[in-house]
Amino acid sequence: MKICVIGSGYVGLVSGACLADLGNVVWCVDKDENKINILNRGGIPIFEPGLKELIDKNYQVGRLKFTTNLDLAVKKCNIIFICVGTPTSKKNHSADLSNVYSAAKKISKNIKSFKIIVIKSTVPVTTGDKLEKIISKKVQRKLFEVISNPEFLREGEAIRDFRFPDRIVVGSNNNKVLKKIKILYEPLIKKGAKFFSTNRRGAEIIKYASNAFLATKISYINEIANLCEKTGVNVEDVSLGIGLDQRIGSRFLRAGPAYGGSCFPKDTKAITSTANLFKINLSIIKSVIKSNENRRILLTKRIKVILSNKINNKKIAFLGVTFKPNTDDMRQSSSLLMIPYLQKRGAKILYYDPSGEKKEFSKLKNVEFCRNIKDLCRNVDLVIIHTEWEEFKVLDFKKLSKKKKFKIYDMRNLYSPDVMKKNGFSYYSIGR
Ligand SMILES: NC(=O)c1ccc[n+]([C@@H]2O[C@H](COP(=O)([O-])OP(=O)(O)OC[C@H]3O[C@@H](n4cnc5c(N)ncnc54)[C@H](O)[C@@H]3O)[C@@H](O)[C@H]2O)c1
Repeated sequence: MKICVIGSGYVGLVSGACLADLGNVVWCVDKDENKINILNRGGIPIFEPGLKELIDKNYQVGRLKFTTNLDLAVKKCNIIFICVGTPTSKKNHSADLSNVYSAAKKISKNIKSFKIIVIKSTVPVTTGDKLEKIISKKVQRKLFEVISNPEFLREGEAIRDFRFPDRIVVGSNNNKVLKKIKILYEPLIKKGAKFFSTNRRGAEIIKYASNAFLATKISYINEIANLCEKTGVNVEDVSLGIGLDQRIGSRFLRAGPAYGGSCFPKDTKAITSTANLFKINLSIIKSVIKSNENRRILLTKRIKVILSNKINNKKIAFLGVTFKPNTDDMRQSSSLLMIPYLQKRGAKILYYDPSGEKKEFSKLKNVEFCRNIKDLCRNVDLVIIHTEWEEFKVLDFKKLSKKKKFKIYDMRNLYSPDVMKKNGFSYYSIGR
């Protein structure tokens, strides 16, 4: 099939490369000229394991193309995926749909033959209806169909998630179109992915309801961890004890920092905002948002307590600053609150992240990127394990602290409190 993917970010690039790898010809479009230039020069604008290899392979055989020319790409293709960003609005908690609407308007100017327009961006219920209206202003109704096909991939594991999804959700009442999309996904269905179709609005709600549920699980165990800390219980035992119940399941029950990233924070806000418009109070999700905000503050204050309320002139090392491992994505990462908070109070911050230096901290005085863990930990007062990168799991802290014994705050529970104690460290973790 000939596919146009509008928006070449985390979702668009991964979807485009994977769809090309299934044998389709894919045009990846972005309005960001710099991004497209990087891609056409053989580079990659984001960090996602395995993505560069997949892009290279499909680019070289001509199945994957990158362009800023949306008009041309739409004309050439019969299926158009919209994968543009839908961030939180600057005015309130709703999703800012300006990118989606602007893409729809541009698409509508280029439809001369039948096109399937697939909304993969996460959008509030009824957005598909609105897109249909926008496009109908320029195009005869029989020449297009707008469907919903939300994406569930996780950054850091995006290629595997795209190729082996638990389910492919498609929202449309048009059986002919559903059949065509099912053929597109047939290679994934054959490998075990469930194809689930419902109406368009249903698919739109499924995406938000899924993310809000996962965010709820995280906040739930984070609050239970607070109780464990006060009562001398290990939250990991509680997670296991709960998770063994198959009605609950063990995943997303690991206590840690507040959830971050480009999806959970914005999607929990957007669904409550949409519900408000329909005079529905999603009180559970609203509590989760509040709980997560409190968590950011709670863990930041905990750092202060670990340093006996003396932050000024302390040297603090961050192991990882991204919101999770295997991505360079900094959106809504806890470190964005913690590092400026500590820096403002006179601490010197050093950080190391396998995905490289971060522009978010480049203007902050006394915040410095280190190229390796050895330099990072030299002469510091506190080491904070912020992100669960693989390379942080087997560190020799005895060796790293040879010059100066530092305290350790392990926000990911990567190490054993007993072993740390035996080795003479002041070691703090979560819910243990
Ligand atoms: N990142 C994830 O893990 C993830 C997972 C599932 C779903 N989603 C959803 O997918 C959507 C995209 O997310 P993302 O993380 O890939 O975003 P992103 O910010 O990484 O990428 C979006 C891209 O769209 C481009 N763009 C915006 N408007 C455009 C236009 N009119 N024409 C051409 N290009 C345009 C931007 O320049 C950017 O490169 C969002 O709705 C998000 O909620 C994201």
